[in-house]
Amino acid sequence: MGYAVASARPFAPRLPSPLEELRDDRLTSAGLGLFLKRDDLINADIPGNKWRKLKYNLASARKQDHHVLLTFGGAYSNHIRVTAAAGHYFGFTTIGVIRGEEHLPLNPSLDYAVRHGMRLTYLDRAAYREKMSPEVIAMLHHQFGEFYLLPEGGSNAEALRGCAEIPGEIDRHFDLICCPCGTGGTLAGLAHGLRPGQRALGFSALKGGDFLAREVSRFQGEAFGAVSGNWSVECGFHFGEFAKRKPALDHFIADFDERHGLCLDWVYVAKMMYGIFALAAESAFPDGTAIVALITG
Ligand SMILES: Cc1ncc(COP(=O)(O)O)c(C=O)c1O
Repeated sequence: MGYAVASARPFAPRLPSPLEELRDDRLTSAGLGLFLKRDDLINADIPGNKWRKLKYNLASARKQDHHVLLTFGGAYSNHIRVTAAAGHYFGFTTIGVIRGEEHLPLNPSLDYAVRHGMRLTYLDRAAYREKMSPEVIAMLHHQFGEFYLLPEGGSNAEALRGCAEIPGEIDRHFDLICCPCGTGGTLAGLAHGLRPGQRALGFSALKGGDFLAREVSRFQGEAFGAVSGNWSVECGFHFGEFAKRKPALDHFIADFDERHGLCLDWVYVAKMMYGIFALAAESAFPDGTAIVALITG
């Protein structure tokens, strides 16, 4: 499958990403099959759902003759980091609008972004909350001129198109595909790409993830003109505050690594995987269900 934007530096995404069967007694005894869709292996600099979301945005930016990408994020944002990498590989100037004040020396994420050519600017928290308002956008245009705007987290209609391609890469039967959720963009695209009878289940990485169902519906409505009824969001495995480590999750990650030789990303992916095993233990999935877990990063 080709992508529609030429790179300025060699960039070779590994696509289709590999599909690996995970053999685990706890699942086999529950009559379940689990396959890992290894989007984390797509590319070291732009892995997982980040590449899926950027692919059509880069093509759109190029088609609209933009040379500058501008986006938003917190000081530790992966999205800021990968936008900088995308600029580096695909020949765009990048601007990162960071929440809060500048702290020097830069943390490793922002240092990486700057080393890959990103220009950073900062918005105080009050202005940051209004970042998509016409006033703030006009102020940014005044400061930086023309740019292609990528929303925080990278989720928009073009991003959903990229995520909708994932199910088509899976060349074996499955009933359910699971993914972690932050903004809900990945789940919205993924569900749109499923065949009749298949379902998608998102696991909220955030406490209070009830907003996600509204967001996924909104994303699908905007991108595809309709909301598909084939997805749901599980909000019970957020492990408290976002991006705070918890012993039970750390233990699960270490145990999973020992059993399967795969160290799961603890902010998003481990919570989904924990949730899949917990639901399997409660017999929440019908006997014989073939599940794909999307390893988003
Ligand atoms: C590794 C990983 N998985 C999942 C997500 C959540 O994706 P979404 O915001 O599309 O729900 C993110 C968010 O950036 C992420 O970094």
